[in-house]
Amino acid sequence: MTDIPKLLSDKMASGEITTLIAEILELNPLHRRFLEAAITNIRDKEMVDLGKYLEFCIACGHDMHYVADCYMTIVEDTLNEQMYFIRHGNYRHSSFAEVADAVYFNRDYMNKYMYGLAITSFLWPNHIAMSRFFQQTFPIEKTGRYLEVGPGHGYYSMTALDIGSLDSIIGVDISEASLNQTRAVLDHFHPNDSCQIDLMHMDFLDAKELETNSFDILVMGEVLEHVEQPQLFLERLANLAASDAHIYVTTCINAPAIDHIYLWRNIEELEVMIAAAGLTIREKLYLPYDGKTLEESLDQNLAINVAYVLGVA
Ligand SMILES: C[S@@+](CC[C@H](N)C(=O)[O-])C[C@H]1O[C@@H](n2cnc3c(N)ncnc32)[C@H](O)[C@@H]1O
Repeated sequence: MTDIPKLLSDKMASGEITTLIAEILELNPLHRRFLEAAITNIRDKEMVDLGKYLEFCIACGHDMHYVADCYMTIVEDTLNEQMYFIRHGNYRHSSFAEVADAVYFNRDYMNKYMYGLAITSFLWPNHIAMSRFFQQTFPIEKTGRYLEVGPGHGYYSMTALDIGSLDSIIGVDISEASLNQTRAVLDHFHPNDSCQIDLMHMDFLDAKELETNSFDILVMGEVLEHVEQPQLFLERLANLAASDAHIYVTTCINAPAIDHIYLWRNIEELEVMIAAAGLTIREKLYLPYDGKTLEESLDQNLAINVAYVLGVA
């Protein structure tokens, strides 16, 4: 068995990270092998960034026991939903109304979910791969207007401010808890940034005041599978994007979660929808289930994550 404290110390993990990992193992000793692989996979800069994110959590009044609990909430909920999906062949819910009160409008749950999700973007192999893809493809010199739909924990917006040259950010999220986290993360990491930031609490499809053809960078990570009509979301993105806009979108196939309501069973179904919305695929990243090939994942209905850089057709 690998010595996790030694692995962490070799990787120069901060005290907060070491405490977080110990707390997670306390809550679920069966997560050890997964964590060993995660710690082995994480790069030096990502380890530093995780440490800074945990400092942010502490500044928000949370200890590592709480953050570990947030992370295990998402791990356990996902496992439960995977069992349901194997048994029934469908996601448990298919309408927004079924999940809204338990998830998006439940402040305590949503807070846990978003902190937990942010931690997965350092520890889960597919989530860290999507974060890397976001950074590798981000047009760092592009100035102008950035729109993020469903910023959730706010980490993409924060990263865009870190590495980009933005003039303004608009974030639209249906959950107040999510927007509060986005605001807090931006304030913490960029307290005096000159970039104009406007966070809107509403359903993206109701955000009528957003101007057509006016956004230069548009980001929508892990939102499409949460909505009843993802095609409308893609069409609205295409409609809001400037003609040379950079559009970054992630979603998933056969990937149950407590609030995933739109199920794509293969990549083709999704890409037909993207094209029908008036968007073209410039770059793509297919991430099969951990340890499986893409073909095996598709054959066995195992979760696949996908990320795209899109343009207006
Ligand atoms: C799973 S989180 C994704 C967070 C982050 N973008 C990421 O990629 O990790 C989904 C976010 O989308 C928001 N959301 C869901 N439906 C929405 C809608 N109709 N309009 C705006 N935001 C929505 C949720 O409240 C949540 O904050």
